[in-house]
Amino acid sequence: MSLSTLSYIIILGMAASGIGMMVLSGAAPVIFGQSNATLPNFTDYPPRAPHGFGAFVLVALLVFHAGAALYHQFIRRDGLLRRMWYGA
Ligand code: HEM
Repeated sequence: MSLSTLSYIIILGMAASGIGMMVLSGAAPVIFGQSNATLPNFTDYPPRAPHGFGAFVLVALLVFHAGAALYHQFIRRDGLLRRMWYGA
């Protein structure tokens, strides 16, 4: 499985687990101003754990990705950033 396929799976998983938390906890009326109740404790709901872990992995991939671009540009000096510009 390629890294980009993995990234898409994680991103879709974030949306799914986020929506799962909302549905299971019934927090939508509070968030959308239909109720004055306090927000639930989201950690009580199983999708909260993969959601937090997925967020961490996405940030780690982002840092790795940007670091790899800088490595190409300044250490390998292969003109990667120029290739990302229009028509170059
Ligand atoms: C690509 C999509 C998403 C990303 C990158 C994302 C990112 C995050 C992050 C970074 C946190 C905090 C995690 C932590 O403190 O460890 C979080 C929490 C949360 N997210 Fe998302 N999220 C996404 C989609 C969604 C969606 C679609 C929903 C709901 C419709 C949602 C609902 C929530 C909820 C309810 C929490 C828990 C807040 C809490 O525990 O205090 N998320 N999300």
